[in-house]
Amino acid sequence: MDTTEKPDHKIAPDFSHRLLDWYRVHARSMPWRITPANYLAGERANPYHVWISEVMLQQTQVITVKDYFLKFIDLWPTVHDLAASDLEDVLKAWAGLGYYSRARNLKKCAEQVSEHHDGKFPQTAESLKKLPGIGDYTAAAIASIAFDEPVAVVDGNIERVMSRHQHIESYFPDAKPQLKEMLSGILDPKAPGEFAQAMMDLGATICTPKKPACALCPVNRDCAGFKNGDAENYPRKRPKPEKPVRKGAAFVLKNANGEIFLCKRESSGLLAGMTQVPTSNWNARQDGVVTIDAAPISADWKKVGTARHTFTHFHLELIVWQANANQIGDLDGWWCKQEDIFEEALPNLMKKVISVTL
Ligand code: ADE
Repeated sequence: MDTTEKPDHKIAPDFSHRLLDWYRVHARSMPWRITPANYLAGERANPYHVWISEVMLQQTQVITVKDYFLKFIDLWPTVHDLAASDLEDVLKAWAGLGYYSRARNLKKCAEQVSEHHDGKFPQTAESLKKLPGIGDYTAAAIASIAFDEPVAVVDGNIERVMSRHQHIESYFPDAKPQLKEMLSGILDPKAPGEFAQAMMDLGATICTPKKPACALCPVNRDCAGFKNGDAENYPRKRPKPEKPVRKGAAFVLKNANGEIFLCKRESSGLLAGMTQVPTSNWNARQDGVVTIDAAPISADWKKVGTARHTFTHFHLELIVWQANANQIGDLDGWWCKQEDIFEEALPNLMKKVISVTL
């Protein structure tokens, strides 16, 4: 595929105007946003809120993020509060969102902003990128939404809208520089954050992955995908390698009080430092032992089911073994009451494992 290929469709000069007119009526309400009317009246979104929501939204859908976001803001109303928090509490509040390095970086970033920037976020994408956990996308989103910096924001929704509109033939992420250049030419420099969020909303509600509602789209007039009736064929998808299925075993020990034995994963690798029940040594590249040869203690282990989970690069199937024990020798960990189990910083995989035994 020639990645230097240029689209041959012209973007109408009023693209941004039509998009923003539509957004002023149809903007989705989100707890970290301000309304378009308030934006026009001069109000700006709180950078702390924008930052937390954008980090949460990197791998998670808006609908899921709303509750997590409100819980975070309630627990830690300012960046100073988050900086002073206990990492364990942050991981607990994050549990279920996945990609836990995001939570660790959130805490590190809050500490830097609190200690070295007097609690104020830097206002340009370039300077935001120097902070832990803030990459290209998040930096551009915060700078444009909270500080009106006219930088192009590129997320999956925006890739879809523009690759359809302009028939971008190359694959993402290769096509990103081309898309950024395109967006820099059409975004509204007076309202760059509104432009970015309008594009996201258009992608989420009209220019959807399947069956886009092209007839309702405010920018359909000059859209190549609409004109050719082939919007759904964009963005072009690179053939994906199959995800391997990794196997392993998980061991749920219960004592006479019905408590479950929990421990911490190693501090590096997948789910680093998260709470778990003991498992065999599976990882993204290799299967783990699936039998009780890998059990943490000898006991009368019974196979009770299988827990399945999909990570970014592989599927995982854990055989779930259960046994009763009161003595656990020198195993490092703790007993947790069954009713408190989901208060722990348990990754979704571990919730599934434990649910098999309930
Ligand atoms: N996805 C990521 N950031 C978003 C935002 N600010 N609005 C809507 N969807 C988003």
